[in-house]
Amino acid sequence: MSSHARKRILSGMRPTGRLHLGNFVGALENWVSMQHEYDNYHLVADWHVLTTDYEHSPDILPNTIEMVKDWLAAGIDPMESPMFRQSQLKEHAELHLIFSMLVTTARLERNPTLKEQVRDLADKLKSRGFDEVEDAGGAPLISYGHLGYPVLQAADILLYKGNAVPVGEDQLPHIEITREIARRFNNTFGEVFPIPEGVVLKETKFSRLPGPDGRRMSKSLGNTIYLSDSEEETGKRIMSAITDPLKVRKNDPGRPEICNVFTYHQKFNPEEAPQIDRDCRSGALGCVACKKNCTVKLNDYLRPLREKRATYNEGNVLEILVDGENKARSVASETMQQVREAMKIG
Ligand code: TRP
Repeated sequence: MSSHARKRILSGMRPTGRLHLGNFVGALENWVSMQHEYDNYHLVADWHVLTTDYEHSPDILPNTIEMVKDWLAAGIDPMESPMFRQSQLKEHAELHLIFSMLVTTARLERNPTLKEQVRDLADKLKSRGFDEVEDAGGAPLISYGHLGYPVLQAADILLYKGNAVPVGEDQLPHIEITREIARRFNNTFGEVFPIPEGVVLKETKFSRLPGPDGRRMSKSLGNTIYLSDSEEETGKRIMSAITDPLKVRKNDPGRPEICNVFTYHQKFNPEEAPQIDRDCRSGALGCVACKKNCTVKLNDYLRPLREKRATYNEGNVLEILVDGENKARSVASETMQQVREAMKIG
């Protein structure tokens, strides 16, 4: 198939550092599986980090390097699928500015993910002793740039004329705003943009991989297993995992369906999972042995990724990004030219 007939996928992540198993199973694995079927562009949304965390801007580059190492380790081929930083392409800022005229502040204030972030931000400020935050109801905490978060995301997607955007459920409101902006532009100035679809990855048992403690795996909950953790660190996490609380002694019958370690077996050790299920239920298999086996299997699974990850450093990751940025720029600048022509501001 000729490459221009292929659907174009734009995927993005904010760089907050190393990725964990939950990110891997929930997003990265899907990016890898789609890479031969579609044209993929992988965006590092480093400017988006500024919307809530501008004081920590010096962390953005090191966090980007660590995240992109994980992308590469997971098997995304940068020759086939460009990886690039939004901050290195002025076109993102330009299109964001133009799009900011095409959406009302009222529309952006209705964005449900914004409301959630306001709550988080209020908590953060309160913990630093700003108690007037509560009285103000949170609203004044939102910067102009933060309100425009989805507008910047629309520019990310539409600069590359993305047809599909793989996202979690929580990002659908942003895709909806992207679609509205694309339609508004096309209706006003002429057909330039495709109307992108948000592709919500099928919710499977694994798409929200539990942490060893059974809660959603997340950095803020401190229950993460990083792709880049050592085998020992991985073992410690698994050995301390919560299993069926009614299986106290080895021979007590267990219930795999409520056991976090069993979920890992199903995902990372599928061949043995049926036998483990039977032996856990019958009481033949105790939790300690089961966890030791799980550690071995998970480390086996991650070993090639970890070995690959170790071949990257800041220098070669930056080279890959700069190369991706050059490829992205040729698409983005072409789109900007079309935008300027359509608007007669060329
Ligand atoms: N908002 C996305 C998130 O938090 C990150 C993002 C920025 C993105 N630009 C994008 C995702 C473009 C997909 C496409 O996850």
